[in-house]
Amino acid sequence: MAPDLTQLDVKSPDVYLAGVPHESFRLLREHDPVHWHPEAAPDPGFWAITKHADVVAISRDPKTFSSAERFIYYEEIDRESMDMRRSMIETDPPDHTRLRRIVSPLFTPRTVDEYRDHAQRIAHRLLDQAEAAGSFDWVGDVCELMPIRVFVSVFGAPEADADYLARLANQLVAIDDPDLAPPPEAYERARARGFEPHHLPFRSPAALDLFDYTRDLCATRREAPQDDLITRLVQAEWEGDHLTDSELVNFCQLLIFAGNETTRNSLASGMLALIEHPEQLDLLQRDRSLMKSAVEEILRWATPIYCFRRTAMIDTEVRGTRIAKGDKVVLYYVSGNFDEAVFPDPLRFDITRDASAQLVFGGGGPHYCLGAFLARMQIETLLTAVLDRELRFETTGPTTRMRTNFANALKTMPVRIVAP
Ligand code: HEM
Repeated sequence: MAPDLTQLDVKSPDVYLAGVPHESFRLLREHDPVHWHPEAAPDPGFWAITKHADVVAISRDPKTFSSAERFIYYEEIDRESMDMRRSMIETDPPDHTRLRRIVSPLFTPRTVDEYRDHAQRIAHRLLDQAEAAGSFDWVGDVCELMPIRVFVSVFGAPEADADYLARLANQLVAIDDPDLAPPPEAYERARARGFEPHHLPFRSPAALDLFDYTRDLCATRREAPQDDLITRLVQAEWEGDHLTDSELVNFCQLLIFAGNETTRNSLASGMLALIEHPEQLDLLQRDRSLMKSAVEEILRWATPIYCFRRTAMIDTEVRGTRIAKGDKVVLYYVSGNFDEAVFPDPLRFDITRDASAQLVFGGGGPHYCLGAFLARMQIETLLTAVLDRELRFETTGPTTRMRTNFANALKTMPVRIVAP
């Protein structure tokens, strides 16, 4: 008999405090893979898409399932706010195609390779400090610091601003977390400038600070170009077409969030997985040729973004279930990545498996993550540094998780170095 799925909740941020609700997703995949999930009024409810194949098919069909119509989060946004908040990830082709053409040459594997040495130096510097301390917080002392430092140097922001930008990026996703949410004064400052939370990305006033910061930086580079990403973005063109000022600022804001929170969460969950499965780290130490598959498995296991949303543009069907024009459709990458139809024995962490079909960077299609190579490079670089130094860690207390239904984020992970 099919279980009663009507009480099942995969949206509340509280559900994720205890970790990914894998059993709920398994039940949905098995019994109702296109599941109507209610929401508290006035939100309308949504279709929860939990099978790998459906996430892929919908991601690749932007005509039917739009990212622009109502944006990509659960939240319902009014038109005025959409116009103020829209970045490339919330556009559909052909607008999206134009933006993507301008920026994608800056994120190719070859370009990313240019940043590898720098990432390596940052990883070793952080591990030097960690080794000297002996006991430390893997999240706060390593994962939170590495991607933002790689990012500021690639981007061209002053290194001294790294911590400020990391804090703003945190405050973007953490509005539901009492420890990390922006302070009340930040909301007041935004209101004084005419911005209500719903006008801002993630409803967070930190977005306004990021806009201001990137606007100033773009202006400085226009005046005095340098050899950095921000200058390349200011100058980027495709057949004579440039980014407008507001496209540029929205894109930089997207990059600061997308480039940091996600990568940092994969570094954090990845190390936790390796601590909990020490035989996998030993295996990798013995056989470095497993590095590529290890990175894919770490990504699958970590799934730093749980889901993104689409909106149906026409009456349609998924797996025989009727979806009406205007319906909200939520693609659960975190379920697809544990779909037993694609990943046998999905709750086994196994660096030898072929996890390359993971949906961490989206299900393919036009919005497939622009920073996928950069993220992979950083995971590989940090892991290589840990292996080269023959470091082994154990946790010295419980890990804590961010209260969010969007990012699979560890807040703290106390560890100490142990003998290999
Ligand atoms: C493990 C780390 C990362 C994860 C899990 C991740 C995840 C994602 C996902 C799920 C999407 C949306 C796919 C879709 O809607 O179909 C996306 C898009 C995007 N990501 Fe990432 N990302 C990561 C790292 C990065 C980095 C390092 C950068 C850049 C510095 C970046 C920049 C972007 C941008 C600009 C988009 C929008 C692309 C578009 O709309 O065409 N991401 N990412």
